[in-house]
Amino acid sequence: MDIDLADLDFWRNPLKERNEAFARLRQLEHPVFFPEKKVPFLRSGAGFYALVRHADVVEASRNAKVFSSEPAVTNPEPPGWVKQVFGESMVNMDDPRHARLRRIVTRSFSPKMLQNLQSDIENACARIVDDVEARGAGDFVTQVAARLPIHVICDMMGIPDEYRAKVHDHVDVSTAYTGVRPSLARSVRMAGQNMMALLALQKLVIKLGHERQAEPTGDLVSLLVNANPDGEKLTDKELGSFFSLLLVAGNETARNTMAHGIKLLTDHPDQRALLTGDFDAHINGAIEEMVRFVSPIMQFRRTVTEDYDLRGLHLRAGDKVVLFYGSANRDESVFPDPDAFDITRDTKPHVGFGGPGPHFCLGANLARQEMRTMFRTLLTRLPAIRAVGEPELLLSNFDNSVRSQSFTF
Ligand code: HEM
Repeated sequence: MDIDLADLDFWRNPLKERNEAFARLRQLEHPVFFPEKKVPFLRSGAGFYALVRHADVVEASRNAKVFSSEPAVTNPEPPGWVKQVFGESMVNMDDPRHARLRRIVTRSFSPKMLQNLQSDIENACARIVDDVEARGAGDFVTQVAARLPIHVICDMMGIPDEYRAKVHDHVDVSTAYTGVRPSLARSVRMAGQNMMALLALQKLVIKLGHERQAEPTGDLVSLLVNANPDGEKLTDKELGSFFSLLLVAGNETARNTMAHGIKLLTDHPDQRALLTGDFDAHINGAIEEMVRFVSPIMQFRRTVTEDYDLRGLHLRAGDKVVLFYGSANRDESVFPDPDAFDITRDTKPHVGFGGPGPHFCLGANLARQEMRTMFRTLLTRLPAIRAVGEPELLLSNFDNSVRSQSFTF
């Protein structure tokens, strides 16, 4: 087999070539095993079975008892001492620990909470477009896409204005590390900076948690540190790691979808005309199609807990499987003509926000709301807005990340 998903060089190939490779893998009778090289000083897997079909990703996501998120859904795994210092992230937990945390945090993403955020999101989008008008065309990522998600998370959490610049800086440092595999020296330096940034963020939110315990203000931190009707609340460490998770999970993902999204609308004028012709009728379809097409998170992994047959493949306890969301989202048996950008698709749900199951993206509705509002504001106030040239992409096998995308209006 000339395809090696475990080799970062594979991810250097243009998207078209990668999609063709995945299309070939989807045709095979069984998921294929890819051995992995050890990463010095880090706990990394020996290899994984690649789940590339939609049905396989759905099956593994749904059956969390067999397909465990512990010890981690990423590779390399966070070392034990990192978990000690930073606390564990719910994305890397199974029930009952996961279910407890998810119960506590879910109410902060309830339809009512999201409705309360709407006017704030609208104001933020309006300010972003004001600034674009004042400053003129440039880079869509820094001027538009990167500004909204972090603003919304800070607002939800009730992060005071004077801390926000610090949060932005720390997030930039901490996310610079994800996905890339630079030289060892650079990797160690980046990991160190990343840790310091995360620690600073956690310290900040824990301090805020103490203040909100003494004087709740109705924001997300107040909700999380004061007991819910079942008497449950987050500990300091849990609050810190949840905040880090939100910043990492909710920031890059929505920003990359918007950055790819403006390019998709530019390259597909017919779809754009449909959308702007009847925004209310098509915006939900457009956002889902952007997430399917872009698949902002390329992969998460699971560890098999007991012997299990998956489509004729005999898996053993301890085996790793990797869920390739981008491939599942181009599975031709679910999405006819999968490489077409079609905002009117009426198919089974894509798995861009994860497959159905206990870890389905907690922020999916928030992300949808942010992206709907941003595109409505952009396309209404700047009807000629369009991407110019090709995006600069980050080399990664994890985030489908756009570093920059020129635009004009
Ligand atoms: C386009 C935007 C987004 C995409 C594509 C995305 C994608 C995903 C995916 C694939 C998972 C599944 C993890 C798994 O199964 O192991 C996930 C989980 C999660 N997402 Fe998102 N996400 C997005 C936006 C957000 C936002 C805006 C937030 C919050 C502010 C958020 C918070 C989370 C959290 C907390 C989890 C972990 C849930 C759990 O383990 O129970 N995400 N996301």
